[in-house]
Amino acid sequence: MQYKIALLKGDGIGPEIIESAVSVLERIAAKYGHDFYFTSYPIGGCAIDTVGVPLPKETVEGCLASDSVLLGAVGGPKWDHLPGDLRPEKALLGIRAALGLYTNLRPAKLFPALRDASPLRADLIASGFDIMIVRELTGGIYFGERGYRNGKYGEEAFDTEAYSVLEIERIGRAAFETAMKRQKRLTSVDKANVLETSRLWRKTMHQLAEAYPEVTYQDMFVDNAAMQLVRNPQQFDVIVTSNMFGDILSDEASQLTGSIGMLASASMGDSSRGMYEPIHGSAPDIAGQNKANPIATILSAAMMLRYAFGLSAEAQCIEDAIDAVLAAGFRTADILGNSKTDICSGSDMTGKILNAIG
Ligand code: IPM
Ligand code: MG
Repeated sequence: MQYKIALLKGDGIGPEIIESAVSVLERIAAKYGHDFYFTSYPIGGCAIDTVGVPLPKETVEGCLASDSVLLGAVGGPKWDHLPGDLRPEKALLGIRAALGLYTNLRPAKLFPALRDASPLRADLIASGFDIMIVRELTGGIYFGERGYRNGKYGEEAFDTEAYSVLEIERIGRAAFETAMKRQKRLTSVDKANVLETSRLWRKTMHQLAEAYPEVTYQDMFVDNAAMQLVRNPQQFDVIVTSNMFGDILSDEASQLTGSIGMLASASMGDSSRGMYEPIHGSAPDIAGQNKANPIATILSAAMMLRYAFGLSAEAQCIEDAIDAVLAAGFRTADILGNSKTDICSGSDMTGKILNAIG
């Protein structure tokens, strides 16, 4: 089969990790007889430098004309002084909105070989954990009204959280459907004891739950969820939550797996075209040093094969290769463990994974 893939390399370590993922996809193409056509488009700080805006029109059009999108990371200190609307991060929100990607799947799964890299005590993760965070991605406080005004104490800034029933229903449905394909347990995380948006969220989730009697559903306050994740991550199967709570909880969950450098994500909407990206950032401090862990991006490419193209065997092949390489003791520097391991550069790690794919 033939697929057009838009590459948004972005800033910092973005280009190196995308290069790794592309080499893995090319190996898969050769092994399974597919053709992947890659086209790169600028996004983030590099787009500001070359075109003057973080999300050029040609980038949005290029993504819309592709079968899928693979993104590295955006941002860096060079662009931190810019006003909110011109920051690289704005491009990420813009492309998510432009492609209608309201569902963000962030799997946090403990690789058995990385048990000792998790900051949690061994007995807490003895039987591992496998959590799917379903984060709402195109609404809430990230997209609400914002600005500056004169308040009670003088100048103040404000951001607003708003959620419509429609937005809650569609992310809720995505979460229940995800749970149906897994262990059929769903935790909806909100702050309904304080926020009106959370009360509407909870009410809408309860209505949806009636249509999914097989799913064991529970509500949880976000502060409790943050605590439960480190107390007993094994209790969770699927977690559904708002844009900002999902941003925070997914970073927390990622570290439980040993490193944020391991976590992939899939952003999807109503079409099969999604955007696939690691959940970590552009890590400007290690950019260009061949130290970055390419695994989150390679796993994102595997998610793309599975969800956007329906190529499950190919996705599994990549995941098995990563399992094998980790089991053989190879680590990038971000994965801290107690056992004696070989620290690999980013390109060494990519090479090991390519070899394991065969
Ligand atoms: C993420 C990131 C982004 C977000 C930033 C870079 C805008 O933290 O994908 O988790 O907050 O969504
Ligand atoms: Mg984040």
